[in-house]
Formats: sequence, C-alpha cells, structure tokens
Amino acid sequence: MDTLIFEKVDVYISNMFAPDDATLAATLRSLRAEGLPQHSVSANQGKFLQLMAILCNAKKILELGTLGGYSTIWLARALPADGKLISVEINNHYAEVAQRNINDAGLSGKVEIRVGDALEILPKMIHDKEGPFDLVFVDADKPPYAEYFSFALSLARPGTLLVFDNVIREGKILDPATTDEKVKGVQRFNKILSDNPHVTSTILPIVGIKEYDGMALAIVKGNIIA
Ligand code: DHB
Ligand code: MG
Repeated sequence: MDTLIFEKVDVYISNMFAPDDATLAATLRSLRAEGLPQHSVSANQGKFLQLMAILCNAKKILELGTLGGYSTIWLARALPADGKLISVEINNHYAEVAQRNINDAGLSGKVEIRVGDALEILPKMIHDKEGPFDLVFVDADKPPYAEYFSFALSLARPGTLLVFDNVIREGKILDPATTDEKVKGVQRFNKILSDNPHVTSTILPIVGIKEYDGMALAIVKGNIIA
C-alpha cells in the first residue's frame, strides 16, 4: 500500500473535522512566507490536541516548541475565558511570527510566549511554582525529550496529561544503532517514559500527510516528589 492513501484519508478527515479557518490558514501561510520549518502538526492533529484539552478540562496548558503558533492556536481555543497557555520557544524569529499569529487569532490574552531554552526556563518555572499544568504538549528539540519529561512531571499534578510529538520517526526508533540525534533522543525518552511508574502511558502511531510518526500520551498517576 502506498503512502498516498494515508494522505488522502488525512485530507478527508481534516476537511470534515478540522477545516482550516482564515486564522489557521494565515498562520500556515506565515510559516511558509517567513521560512520557518514546515513541522507544524497537521490539521487533524491540531483537532486531536484540542479534543485532549477539552477532555482534561484544561485551564492551564504548557507547550514546548511554539514554532509559528499553529498547535498553540488549536490548544488555546479549547481554553475557558480565564484559561492560560504558556508556550516556550527558543528561536526569536519563530516566536515573533507566532506572536503575530496569536494576536491575529485574538488569543493574546490567553497565550504567553516565553522565549528561551526550555532547559533553563522550566527549572525556573518549577522554582517559581508555576505549576501544576493540566496539559503539557511537547513538540520541541528531540534530543532533550527525556529532560523535558522530567521537568514536565515537576510541573504536573495527578491527572495531568502529557503529549509528546514525533516519537516514532518513520520507524527509525527501531534501529538501536542509529546515529540520528533526534531519533536517539526519542528512543531514550520512550524507554524512560515506558519505565516510569508515575504515569500510565502509551504511544499512538500516526499516518497522514506528515511523515509516519506518533504521539506519546501519558497521564500522571500519583504525586511526584521532585
Ligand atoms: C521534526 C520536528 C517536528 O516537531 C515534527 O513534527 C516533524 C519533524 C524535525 O525536527 O525533523
Ligand atoms: Mg512535531
């Protein structure tokens, strides 16, 4: 079976369940116009994230890896009037593009973009007791995924949902001898996640218009002693 059928089905689903409105379409255009990597979640994945946010009644969301703000918009739209989303982005230019898109989406009151390295920002957030978040979506640099997970647990409470994008990488995670730093980072994370007794977790494989990939889903079970 060729991959075309997966793309066609993804478009079929997105057209029905996650059609781009003017704001989302403009956001995707801005990513292309500004030369950002075309790594945004797909429309249907955005809708999936929104569903997850609604499912966990999220009032406080943490996102790592804002990029152009596409997934940010899907998630923030699930927030109640007093809800808040903090999104961490290491790249100044990406953060500027995302901020414009967030403003144009009418979500600047709910979304705060923090520019910097999540490995520095997260310990500070833990110190400042900015948690607990109801949902954490990680879609940032792949090599430190295990470290992001550890910090996310310290910003969580029992019941917090953690979602990690890109944990299958076209099946490259099966290769123990891989030299790809992104794949190695994800392999390390997947092992640590599966071994962690404080979460109930699994990986949802995903096919569609993006590369064959998957999202890890984890619910925090008990209190975490940081
Ligand atoms: C890459 C990153 C992503 O977040 C994604 O969804 C797809 C690819 C990458 O860095 O290769
Ligand atoms: Mg991704």
